[in-house]
Amino acid sequence: MVLNVAVVGAGVVGLSTAVALQQRVKNVKVTLIADRFDEGTTSWGAGGLFRPDLDSYPAEHQSSFRQWISDSWKFYNALASSEHSQDCGLTFVAGTLLQNSPKDLGYSCISELTHDFQKLDEAQIKKMNLPSTFKYAYSCTTVITHVPTYLRWLMQKFRGNGGKVECRKVSRLSQLSDDFDLVINCCGLSAVELCQDKSMYPVMGHLVRVKAPWFKKFVFSDDLYIIPHNDYVLLGGIKDAGNWSRAPDPAKRNIILSRAYAMFPALKHAPILDEWVGLRPGREKVRLEVELIKGGNKKTIPVIHNYGHGGHGISLSWGCALHATRLVQELTSGLQARL
Ligand SMILES: Cc1cc2nc3c(=O)[nH]c(=O)nc-3n(C[C@H](O)[C@H](O)[C@H](O)COP(=O)(O)OP(=O)(O)OC[C@H]3O[C@@H](n4cnc5c(N)ncnc54)[C@H](O)[C@@H]3O)c2cc1C
Ligand SMILES: *[C@@H]1O[C@H](CO)[C@@H](O)[C@H](O)[C@H]1NC(C)=O
Repeated sequence: MVLNVAVVGAGVVGLSTAVALQQRVKNVKVTLIADRFDEGTTSWGAGGLFRPDLDSYPAEHQSSFRQWISDSWKFYNALASSEHSQDCGLTFVAGTLLQNSPKDLGYSCISELTHDFQKLDEAQIKKMNLPSTFKYAYSCTTVITHVPTYLRWLMQKFRGNGGKVECRKVSRLSQLSDDFDLVINCCGLSAVELCQDKSMYPVMGHLVRVKAPWFKKFVFSDDLYIIPHNDYVLLGGIKDAGNWSRAPDPAKRNIILSRAYAMFPALKHAPILDEWVGLRPGREKVRLEVELIKGGNKKTIPVIHNYGHGGHGISLSWGCALHATRLVQELTSGLQARL
């Protein structure tokens, strides 16, 4: 018997989930449904820095957060170390995390996973010669994802495995019960409408792309981050919770640029290429669970929600995809046992 699954969403979460399903579930036929692809998604513009921070997650749910991070890292680490790294858009980059409060717990995951994680002492911080005084600093080599390339690579895998793609808007998940046995909902911030999820909110981010090929290391601090990619460097640092505006705001661009210039004056000479505003799918915690939904045809189908990844969607995507896949396996083995 073939299991007919719809995955809603073609961002990093939907595409990862669709591919993970094809790889791990037997006799599955996956259809990816989305109204926006590539540059229409939030994923497409994201910085792509693998820097999960446990402090941003409620303490009572940190064990699943840890699991997702560690599963994602295993996947990214293996791919980034392989001959496919360029095709997937994954690169190892060294850099520094600068903080005003200690992050020993917050960064405990990346400190376990990356091989060269180090807490810097006062003398080492001084040597960096930064104008701002950061009390705490950590250095490591982590993975940076060039998300447009990664999304294209996932889509190619998905199609190569026989996946089908439909470009349309789903107005209610229950409507999918006519054509599918199971739905995985990876709709990101749109859960506000699609699921009436009142705990979802936008966290606006603004990125400025500059040409600075000499800038090779990442820098992350609470109000400024610098993420080098092959052909450009991303400057960001805005987190405007609750703001739905997607219009690039000159005031926000100037805040980012002045912070960057203050810390690295040479960046004043970096030509500005363009800018991008994205809305992170904010939620206290990721919603990754099964809900039974009754369709118009009286048929009840399981929906697995996988959304609300906030500022960590690129870092968590593969781990959450594996989690969703395990839920599918549990549901289908239950289904078979009843037959
Ligand atoms: C400025 C900025 C920087 C970031 N930097 C990083 C970073 O460095 N590292 C990191 O890990 N994360 C980062 N993020 C966070 C990351 O971008 C998100 O967590 C992630 O992209 C969420 O992916 P998603 O697939 O859930 O959502 P999206 O990419 O938004 O995809 C949602 C998909 O669902 C589809 N959809 C929604 N509703 C419907 C519907 N009703 N019918 C049909 N289709 C529907 C859409 O068409 C779309 O295809 C950043 C975000 C921003 C804004
Ligand atoms: C939301 O962001 C826009 C654009 O950056 C800005 O003009 C506006 O003042 C912000 N709104 C609120 C309520 O902060």
